[in-house]
Amino acid sequence: MVKAVWIKHASQLVTLAHETVGPRIKEAMSELAIIEDGSVWLENGIIQAIGTTKELEMRYSVQAENADIIDATGHLVTPGLVDPHTHIAYGGSREREFEMRLEGATYMEIMNAGGGIHATTRMTREATEDELVQQTTKRLDSFLTHGVTTVEGKSGYGLDLETELKQLRVMKRLQEEHPIDIIPTFMGAHAVPTEYKGREDEYVDLIINEMLPVVAKEKLAKFNDVFCEVGVFTPEQSKRILDAGKSLGLTPKIHADEIEPYQGAELAAEVGAISAEHLLKASDEGIQAMAKQSVIACLLPATALYLRETAAKGRTMIDAGVPVAISTDCNPGSSPTTSMPLVMNLACISMRLTPAESLCAATYNAACAIQMEDKVGSLEVGKQADVVLWNVKNYQELQYLFGVNHIKTVWKNGVKVVG
Ligand code: NIG
Ligand code: FE
Repeated sequence: MVKAVWIKHASQLVTLAHETVGPRIKEAMSELAIIEDGSVWLENGIIQAIGTTKELEMRYSVQAENADIIDATGHLVTPGLVDPHTHIAYGGSREREFEMRLEGATYMEIMNAGGGIHATTRMTREATEDELVQQTTKRLDSFLTHGVTTVEGKSGYGLDLETELKQLRVMKRLQEEHPIDIIPTFMGAHAVPTEYKGREDEYVDLIINEMLPVVAKEKLAKFNDVFCEVGVFTPEQSKRILDAGKSLGLTPKIHADEIEPYQGAELAAEVGAISAEHLLKASDEGIQAMAKQSVIACLLPATALYLRETAAKGRTMIDAGVPVAISTDCNPGSSPTTSMPLVMNLACISMRLTPAESLCAATYNAACAIQMEDKVGSLEVGKQADVVLWNVKNYQELQYLFGVNHIKTVWKNGVKVVG
């Protein structure tokens, strides 16, 4: 039997508890609901109680004998981080492309020459399910060591029915075998596979008529994502794919306006996407439309940095009333990182989020972007006991001492998994 865990005396216990439901906007992103000298009791995988240490002492002193007691004096405690946008289940790696880009090649040039997403597609098609499980496990382990306890994961390196299903099954298996929660997204529309070059609409038909129905029938994904980008999928093709998914119960997400402005943010609002991702080149009208429809902007500052592009206008979006989440975009090309703490730092440095907004974007709003906010993303009684103890004293210090992994201990469903 797993012992109860009693964390006491946290210098800052950031709960992010709030009376409202749904993603937070504007000032609400800064309301972290902090308890000083905070205490939380974890048992049976769930948060059983939360308050000041004094309050919990009155209630739990008798049971304390059977609990693991953690003295968090001088330490920050937060919810487990949530990464709402990753491409984790892939084969191989692409370090040579990193060099090529530094020598001057662009991301799209490499992709159009058969590298990029196409290169990973070849390696993912060649890998067995077991090999993919093994490679993905390493990435998930690394996420845990960075305080991430829930991730979204996309397919999209198969680009044929068999391999797309293989990627989704790998994630399903890991959802059972690995402590991290994995929320799966189908992304057959990540690129047009090279064998369909010049027949793009036929590939769109294949996604709609053959891939989506199987994915939905086997319940292998919760979301349906499209790379809506010049030279990849047009807004019209993207809309067809997202509408088809919607009619099968898959909620839309969009990789929008990453490399060039392409009305992606507008499309996200039009189709009722839960989130639009990247948005480096989103138009002002698109930002307004997202605010109006409450589409979550899932911003990926590590990707912008890695591609040496200017980051998305996170500050402007928050001020305009768009709910903002942040993510690693962990993938083998444009952002091979698992460090959500680094992404939080970059959200402050390159998008001018405040440390409080950045933490909300990496926890509660991130959970909303994958419709998991009833279970994770804040520390509240009844939610999953996903908790991080940090080697810093407050959330400001977490964002200020940048590029360093400050993790001390991580609990997933009440079980210690790191530290
Ligand atoms: O989100 N932009 C498209 N897809 C990924 C990159 C995938 C890759 O390069 O393998 C992204 O950045
Ligand atoms: Fe992505």
